[in-house]
Amino acid sequence: MVETIDSTTELRERILALKRRLNAVIVAHNYQRPEVQDVADFVGDSLELARRTRDVEADVIVFCGVHFMAENAVILNPTRTVLLAEGSAGCPMADMIDVDDLREWRQRYPQAAVVCYVNSTAAVKAESDICCTSANAVKVVESLPHEEVLFIPDQHLGHYVSTKTSKRIILYPGFCITHVRLTAKQVIRAKELHPQAPVVVHPECTAEVIALADAVLSTSQMVKYATQSPAQTLLIGTEEGLLHRLRKENPAKAFYLISNSMFCPNMKRTKLETVLKTMELGCNAIAIPEEIRVKALGALDRMLAVA
Ligand code: 13P
Ligand code: SF4
Repeated sequence: MVETIDSTTELRERILALKRRLNAVIVAHNYQRPEVQDVADFVGDSLELARRTRDVEADVIVFCGVHFMAENAVILNPTRTVLLAEGSAGCPMADMIDVDDLREWRQRYPQAAVVCYVNSTAAVKAESDICCTSANAVKVVESLPHEEVLFIPDQHLGHYVSTKTSKRIILYPGFCITHVRLTAKQVIRAKELHPQAPVVVHPECTAEVIALADAVLSTSQMVKYATQSPAQTLLIGTEEGLLHRLRKENPAKAFYLISNSMFCPNMKRTKLETVLKTMELGCNAIAIPEEIRVKALGALDRMLAVA
């Protein structure tokens, strides 16, 4: 007989019971579905998730996010079992560059340091000089002695960094399928409707959108900004999952998503049912060849030492 589970409460209880039995922690990215965020021990941006999972002492890390984030947890904390809650959840941007592409670009720019956005595979990180996230990209680039930086794979984050540094930034043509959907026209329209509201966008947005923003921040930095801002209404330019945390932590404020097409299909693949199934079966364990892991760890550790 096929068992059907129809209640969020029951699913939640079963997940939490299993979590205790497995000695597991559940971590979730800010873009996860509200009910998945609510079952997690920790919700954060890529940088916070990397730091948090590095220090986990439990046996199992159940990662509710996309593949590269779970890989980061394995790279940083290899003696734990890391289960990606939904095995098919990838990041299209991370798949826009592979090791062969990177080697070819490195040959073209032999003087440049390679700064690798964490939205990339472990193999690509292993061939890079240092990683960065959306929260620390400018600091990481500024920390380098090099005058020339090859920034991979996100051209928009790379372009944003280039406006904040005097270094020469070479852009690789990757992008986020979700953030490039936000247009300058949509931002202008939202500002007309809410002229007092600050516009807060993610640096994966295009340069035209960023030029119209009051703040350009990582997802968790947006939550802090919203809490500290005197503004009662804020216009948000990132994936819609962040609105759950923004509203939960700032119940008296109003948040409007500037475009309702900002939806990451991969982040939304994870549901409570998939979290439970993955924990029951112990499937989707992330493994990285040790030689690659150690090299990728170098790039991540160098980033964590900077910011
Ligand atoms: P953050 O690190 O800002 O959470 O962003 C991750 C991401 O995938 C953005 O699309
Ligand atoms: Fe990747 Fe964009 Fe989804 Fe972030 S929002 S995981 S960059 S596709």
